Amino acid sequence: MKNKFLYLSAALLLFTVSCKENKTTTADGKETATVYEGKDLSDEYDAKIDAIISKMTLEEKVGMLHGFSMFTNEGVQRLGIPEVHMADGPLGIREELERMSWAPLHLDNDYATFYPAGGGLSATWNPEMAHTFGKSIGEEARARGKDILLAPAFNIIRTPVGGRTFEYMTEDPFLNKKLVVPYVVGVQENNVAACIKHYAANNQETNRGTVDVLMDERTLREIYLPAFQSAVMEAHAYSVMGAYNKFRGEYLCENPYMLQNILREEWGFKGIVISDWDAVHSTKKSLEAGTDLEMGTNKPSFAEFYLANPLIEAVKAGTVSEAEVDKHAKRVLKLLFNLKAIDGKGREKGSISTNAHFKDAYNIASESVVLLKNSENLLPLKTDGIKSIAVIGANATAKHAQGGFGAGVKTKREVTPLEALKAKLPSSVIINYAEGYKTEFKPKAMVKYGDVTVERAETVNELNPKMIAEAVAAAKKSDIAILFVGSNRNYETEASDRADLALPFGQQALIEAVKAANPKTIVVFIAGAPFDLNKTEKENSTIVWSWYNGSEGGNALADVLLGNLNPSGKLPWTMPKQLSDSPAHATNSFPGNASVTYTEGLLVGYRWFDTKNVAPLYPFGYGLSYTTFEFANAKADKKEYSTDDTINVTVEVKNTGKADGKEVVQLYSAKAGSKVSRAAKELKGFAKTMVKAGSSKTVTISVPVKELAYYEVTTKKWTVEPGTYTFKLGNSSRNLKAEVSIVVK
Ligand code: BGC
Repeated sequence: MKNKFLYLSAALLLFTVSCKENKTTTADGKETATVYEGKDLSDEYDAKIDAIISKMTLEEKVGMLHGFSMFTNEGVQRLGIPEVHMADGPLGIREELERMSWAPLHLDNDYATFYPAGGGLSATWNPEMAHTFGKSIGEEARARGKDILLAPAFNIIRTPVGGRTFEYMTEDPFLNKKLVVPYVVGVQENNVAACIKHYAANNQETNRGTVDVLMDERTLREIYLPAFQSAVMEAHAYSVMGAYNKFRGEYLCENPYMLQNILREEWGFKGIVISDWDAVHSTKKSLEAGTDLEMGTNKPSFAEFYLANPLIEAVKAGTVSEAEVDKHAKRVLKLLFNLKAIDGKGREKGSISTNAHFKDAYNIASESVVLLKNSENLLPLKTDGIKSIAVIGANATAKHAQGGFGAGVKTKREVTPLEALKAKLPSSVIINYAEGYKTEFKPKAMVKYGDVTVERAETVNELNPKMIAEAVAAAKKSDIAILFVGSNRNYETEASDRADLALPFGQQALIEAVKAANPKTIVVFIAGAPFDLNKTEKENSTIVWSWYNGSEGGNALADVLLGNLNPSGKLPWTMPKQLSDSPAHATNSFPGNASVTYTEGLLVGYRWFDTKNVAPLYPFGYGLSYTTFEFANAKADKKEYSTDDTINVTVEVKNTGKADGKEVVQLYSAKAGSKVSRAAKELKGFAKTMVKAGSSKTVTISVPVKELAYYEVTTKKWTVEPGTYTFKLGNSSRNLKAEVSIVVK
């Protein structure tokens, strides 16, 4: 018996290791999370680099500091220095473009895997998935000969209408860093540099090229910078992209406070700062502030870039020292040596569009789908008694890989929900498909956003009567209707924010018409950012949320609908009842004009809703399952801790339903009577765990006491306030069932 037990625990341990689970199971059966840590750039090549620099002309060195084609700088052939090859982006390796323009080359060998967009990845609440993502996309970058992947993009989601909300990860700095670190580590395991972007405070698209972002120091440190800081200090990201906007009066690419004081001096960043495309506005100032590589569009010649001929002239005129140029050129060389791009023996070769990568994309998508409502238990679909299903809506067949500037990917494989349902439903089930709505735009018009007016395309919101009639007929003649609605990549896109939360393309009317035709209607949203779901929530019993979810998005979604997968996605942001409830809008501080002041300060996302007691439509961290979970016996391993300690909180997660499932245990910290202003609660730990139906598992969430620190502005130090902290545990910021109090000495 004893032997059998030993054998089982050994097998379990082996399983844990070989599955690269982000958990370690200790001897007493407790799960703790894996720590992901990257390797910093090595200094071992410095002497070689000095020798190379001494042989280079000024022109050659300057050539390394600016774009020489759309996605490379200039190499120095005679010295064996290759160009630095960069590629977008966050959803997969972008197709090859002409060297001198944005026009695609239409090659047939640049297809890539489409990975779930930021919202989908963050909804997994699973650092292991972020690591899979990074490793997989990094392999694709290598296979395409890239040195730098222009990803991940993870600015904090300050407003639900942000054009890049779909691409970014979350409104919470803790969740953000816990996903960004493994992502970066994964990418860089492949001799590819991650380029973390957009540094920093690039939280809106309106006026993004000029807007001056103003916020207090604590807000900067506690909300907008933590993921960048961890990406640099823990994951050791090798490159950083300087954002378009200004921060406290200075463009990010010429901002000494952000690039020099914080990034280099405080965080010890050794890599290179790459400008966003056309984000440089000066020569001496941007170089001396810390921009290493100016990228952008042909203007008409790359020689005219600020860090091209004007830099050569500045050195010749004596306004910029050649030693300054050397410093930046050395950084580029250091990166190339570390990536094995020079002396490239043993460099990873990568692989692309492989079944293994599609499987990675599937695995991520499979943990990202969020079940918002299932009050009549229509889900999972019980196909036994069903003869016909109406599949309605343009998003049943839409593909989302392409669209919206840099975040597009050309892929051979994108399974749509309709294709997946056809493949997975028993052949006896008849599918009655109707398109329902068209995703059409009117010519561009001037639209008012708060105080500013910008030009953007408005959607056509009148439904075509014939299409409505077809949808209603399909719903009527079917046992059940599944509506695929939401948004798309032309509506949610880089370079423009949405004006409001309204569902575009007349979809609200379609949802109501279909529901009236068939009460058994399941509404599935595919979108990357919050929308107005009030009416849907009120009138429908079953609501599912999916994302621009990659090559396998349709398969993962269909598997959730059919019960092959138990949904475990959780919202990475708050779904407000109305836009004016969201902090940036409630404080009338979006989008500003020449400048924008983040008046809500620390109270971003649920921090605002939960501190001000504003009820959201769906809270941060929310997502249902086909089973139910209970949390019990929450305890900390000690009563009192000192600042260097780690608090280990254990909680029993009991699966009280009939299906196996994964749950995300979330730990929020509250500090009553704090001497500084704080949000009512802040996420400080979480763990995703698989629990079999009817059984329980003890999960450990480790919270380093340092994680409880606030940024003390006068001393410029992270400071842990002594006293009692209450940890609240549950499965959303609004459903907290267990509590533990601890004391910090
Ligand atoms: C985006 C970046 C992107 C770059 C290159 C910019 O417009 O902001 O995220 O990497 O273009 O395509």
